[in-house]
Amino acid sequence: MSLTIAPILPSFGAEVSGVDIAKPLDERTRSAIIDAQNKYGVTVWRKTGLDDETHIAFSRIFGHIELAPRIAGRPYRHAHRELFDASNLDAEGRIIQDELVRLHKRGDRLWHTDSSFMEMRSAQSLLLCHEAPPEGGETWFADTRTAYEDLPQAMKDRIEGLEARHSLWWSRSRAGFPLSEEEIDARPHARHPLVHIHRGSGRKALYIAAHARDIIGMPREEGRALLRELIEFATQPKYVFSVTYEPGDMVIWDNLCSMHRGGEFDDLRYRRDMRRTTIREGAAPERPDDPFTELFAASGVTAFGGRPAAPARNGGPR
Ligand SMILES: [Fe+2]
Repeated sequence: MSLTIAPILPSFGAEVSGVDIAKPLDERTRSAIIDAQNKYGVTVWRKTGLDDETHIAFSRIFGHIELAPRIAGRPYRHAHRELFDASNLDAEGRIIQDELVRLHKRGDRLWHTDSSFMEMRSAQSLLLCHEAPPEGGETWFADTRTAYEDLPQAMKDRIEGLEARHSLWWSRSRAGFPLSEEEIDARPHARHPLVHIHRGSGRKALYIAAHARDIIGMPREEGRALLRELIEFATQPKYVFSVTYEPGDMVIWDNLCSMHRGGEFDDLRYRRDMRRTTIREGAAPERPDDPFTELFAASGVTAFGGRPAAPARNGGPR
């Protein structure tokens, strides 16, 4: 089998077909998929036939799969800790009505890069649709490599070497979750360069978006204005496209060369069941670790009511 690649924008996004990714893949096919991912940044796979187990197995071709956090007292829909629950459903599969949890999830409708609030960054996210609303609920993607290349030279010079502080709680507060600046100050932040070289392509990319709260060494409002300007530049229509889902469709995006955001939908009325695996940057071996639970443990009470579980030494319950 060989891959068929249909680009969506000239150098960003592609629909890929021709390979059954629910089955084990040979080395040549794996390399071709990784090459397509590195080149286009976002690949769209229709009617994959993946279930939870084959979704996880396929994801491993990209590297180490991150484990989703566990919060004590909170029940989960998934037994597999490799799956982040990106649905609007509770542990019993009912539509979430709790306003605080909904506000927390609404942060995903801002342009963001997954987990940029972590010191260890995420590379690919593999989002599989199990159930889609009849209208809305699409995902939008923005090309942070081409946008960087198109920046005026004066802006490239201005941002070279700058670093931003990223906080999950900052993006949640911008989406309406009730947190003061002081409360966010007291929670963990991660520090990352605004511009980096995307390893898979050798091209430079912006690393910005909704979790980015401040620029190191810059007055807060000036840093935020700069971040806003860069996000607005990188999300011009020529750099973005959207993907609408049917059950079985999967999108893989590289967080190190793109931003994304969820489209609006009536989340009190329609079910949207999306499950995500996420690959850690670099060639980290698969091993038990739990940095997400550690982050939540350092953040006090969460949107979900419970207190985080102590980080598990063996990778936690599965
Ligand atoms: Fe996301």
